[in-house]
Amino acid sequence: MNQILVVDDDSSSRESIILNLSKDDRHFLEASNGVEALEIVRSENPDIVVCDIRMPQMDGLEFLEKVKEYKSDLHVIMITAYDDMQTTVRAIQQGAFEYVRKPIDILDLELTIKRALENLDVCRRLEGLISKIGKEYQIDNIIGKSPGMMEVFKIIGAVSTSPVTVLIRGQSGTGKELIAKAIHYNSPFRDQPFIPVNCTAIPENLIESELFGHEKGSFTGAISQNKGKFELAGQGTIFLDEIGDMPLQLQTKLLRVIQERTFERVGSNKTIKTEARIIAATHKNLETLLEKGDFREDLYYRLRVVEITVPPLSERIEDIPALVDYLMEKINRDLGKDVRRVSPEVIELLTKIEWKGNVRELENVLRRAIVLSRGDVLLPETLTESPQIDVSQTASATITAPFRSLAEAEKEYINKVLLHNDWNKKRTCEVLNIARTTLDRKIEQYELKPLEK
Ligand SMILES: Nc1ncnc2c1ncn2[C@@H]1O[C@H](COP(=O)(O)OP(=O)(O)OP(=O)(O)O)[C@@H](O)[C@H]1O
Ligand SMILES: [Mg+2]
Repeated sequence: MNQILVVDDDSSSRESIILNLSKDDRHFLEASNGVEALEIVRSENPDIVVCDIRMPQMDGLEFLEKVKEYKSDLHVIMITAYDDMQTTVRAIQQGAFEYVRKPIDILDLELTIKRALENLDVCRRLEGLISKIGKEYQIDNIIGKSPGMMEVFKIIGAVSTSPVTVLIRGQSGTGKELIAKAIHYNSPFRDQPFIPVNCTAIPENLIESELFGHEKGSFTGAISQNKGKFELAGQGTIFLDEIGDMPLQLQTKLLRVIQERTFERVGSNKTIKTEARIIAATHKNLETLLEKGDFREDLYYRLRVVEITVPPLSERIEDIPALVDYLMEKINRDLGKDVRRVSPEVIELLTKIEWKGNVRELENVLRRAIVLSRGDVLLPETLTESPQIDVSQTASATITAPFRSLAEAEKEYINKVLLHNDWNKKRTCEVLNIARTTLDRKIEQYELKPLEK
């Protein structure tokens, strides 16, 4: 049920509006001046207000100003006199959703109300989505109690409130992107976009226009004007992943963005300001790149103002049990499975592995094991397919058993998941948590084929 408050000192005009707009899913409230209207907004929390301008005690504009202070996202439709353009403009400037001219054309008012209700619906869904996404990247969802991770949390807490540039370093799969998102979603600009840019994945000649946009005709293929990520980010966050792979020429431009907060679109000399926060990440050793002249020293110092170094999983094995719990919960949810029980032996086994691919590798191993599990117990044999590994023995010894190569294991595993899903590639990608293009590439690389019927 949508609640609509009609504010007008003339009771017959209120009645006529209500009569004409009445519908089953609408409930109307009435007020004869701004003071009354404010009280009703506070007590009844209507979805939309339709408000006349000229009223005794508190007029429409004053009401609009007060009500917006109280509830900035309330949709207020103002009814303005035909010849009073100045008031109309002021109403819109003060945040009215729309205005309708007197004498009221009911069809016009009906359409405006419909638009306001639709807009409200979109806003609410967006809010729900943002808070859902936000929850996913709450600091609580970054698992870790080890001293190394506690240090990371401290810095996230300190930097999230101000838009400083942050550099996140750490091996592949340690959670760099997760940390970048946690900083963003804990910042005052969490409802602005978080835009990841992978500097490795974008061809060198396109990355500048990706970041800064381009004008129509500025290079072959630029068929229309395009906004770049910096413009799209607003006051949000640009996450420059794999910054170590950024071409030198672009590093110069990025340095200017950080220093002056301005840039130009490719093919334009109009300077554009940006308020976006930059978070960069790399698994590479930037100092080595500096020595080789592949990374600008001045940019390096600019980025390092705040640095977060995420320790590899092998340096925080005390985090493994909690990570296993958390990841299993997440994977069960993704896959609609219910594998809850893990024996202490399995946990111990998991703490003995070197985890070169860090948390991502741990997640993938668990995902695979959960897919292969039948009941609700995570069986040790599903963790590794190598028959040489006897879990009961390896629990107290470092695993040295001859593993197969990663490629072989990957080939077999992908094949298994494809078969399990009757070669439905979409499902397979979801299970494997990889992009469709990656799956297609792997299928070709490993020459995988569906079973012949
Ligand atoms: N501390 C953690 N708690 C919970 N999940 C984590 C943690 N660290 C990483 N993950 C999960 O591991 C996976 C890899 O993390 P992420 O993509 O952030 O790593 P990365 O450092 O950016 O890796 P890469 O260098 O390969 O891009 C993600 O699914 C992430 O949710
Ligand atoms: Mg990453």
